[in-house]
Amino acid sequence: MASEQNSNRNSQNRKTSFIESELIRLENENLYRQINVFDVEKESTLKYKKKHLLNFSSNDYLGLSKNKALLKQLNQQIKLQISQCSSRLISGSSTKIERLEKNLSSHRDTQSTLIFSNGYMANLGVLSALGDKETVIFSDRLNHASIIDGCKLSNSQVNIFPHNDCSILEELVKKTSTKKKIIITEGIFSMDGDFSKLKEISKISKEYDCILIVDDAHGDFIVGNNTLKNYSGTPAYFNISKEVDVHISSLSKGLGCFGGYVGSSKIICKYLINKSRPFIFTSALPDFLCEIADIALTNAKKGTHQQKLYDNIDYFHKLIDEYNILNVKKIRYSPIIPIIIGSEKKAMDISTKLLKKGFYVQAIRYPTVNKNQARLRVSLSAEHNKHQIYNLLNILSRILK
Ligand SMILES: Cc1ncc(COP(=O)(O)O)c(C=O)c1O
Repeated sequence: MASEQNSNRNSQNRKTSFIESELIRLENENLYRQINVFDVEKESTLKYKKKHLLNFSSNDYLGLSKNKALLKQLNQQIKLQISQCSSRLISGSSTKIERLEKNLSSHRDTQSTLIFSNGYMANLGVLSALGDKETVIFSDRLNHASIIDGCKLSNSQVNIFPHNDCSILEELVKKTSTKKKIIITEGIFSMDGDFSKLKEISKISKEYDCILIVDDAHGDFIVGNNTLKNYSGTPAYFNISKEVDVHISSLSKGLGCFGGYVGSSKIICKYLINKSRPFIFTSALPDFLCEIADIALTNAKKGTHQQKLYDNIDYFHKLIDEYNILNVKKIRYSPIIPIIIGSEKKAMDISTKLLKKGFYVQAIRYPTVNKNQARLRVSLSAEHNKHQIYNLLNILSRILK
């Protein structure tokens, strides 16, 4: 009996030895990841191991995820049903999903919208449906993992162009004779916080007949047409919404809710309904999430949260200059402010020191960003107040000295 157990254990060890050695390698290279568990608290604090932390690592840029009026409505919605427990093409579609889709179409100025389970699935769903072996996808080097995975799933040839380098993009597109060409970029880049050069990119896509896809998970509801004050996202900010063939976004960042969506022409949405496996073969987004996102959308359109957020961003930039903190990407209106540290170990150490002082600023490392490009990714919210921002930068400037 004992020898049988030993032999089972040995076989198990042999089978999984590659896992152990890979985990050891990750630890040695300061790339090991682990889950931290938090308790959510009021406003922008989290409880972590009995400590109250100010959260500077959330994508809840407008602070809507804890908005009291929304939470009150949520209680009423959930009383009826938790989930439709069915996919969209069986019995999962509802008037609530349809209403949200309609309202997102007018928000983004598209003919049609489809709700996906989340932004990750929306990227997989669009790229795998539109791309195939005969397609060439041109993808910005800093595009998010869900875009990279969507490209892989599509079986297309993928040409990566250097970040925001429109002349190389044009060269690559020009020498590609394939009929089906797709350009995909983000609106505001998730780890760098900068805007994609959408005006130039949309010109290239028009001139060379490329389908233009923009994943605007981080710009949606945050920026928009400044004259119209519509907060319809990065394409609206650059006044090129109509040049974008497919808009992809998440409901779990600016809107503070959960889910993803794709806005496009009627015909492309019909195509996705028929071809997009991540749309077809999964349960519909629960009605209560759709309804609450719809209410959050109305709330976000007022613009009050955005004005608070912009004020916080300006204040943060001002303090960065005053404290002379170096290697910070300061982009007007962008709630994502990376402080580039370089070494993975150093970034982790600074993040731990901040944690001890009561601030949660996650260190971002490879493979999310390139090796030796580790950074503290500060994300600001309308919920933060000036006092909290001041305290963070005051302490950070001392740690960095
Ligand atoms: C650019 C980008 N696209 C898509 C996603 C995925 O969105 P979701 O969290 O809704 O799955 C993220 C998430 O961080 C993102 O940064």
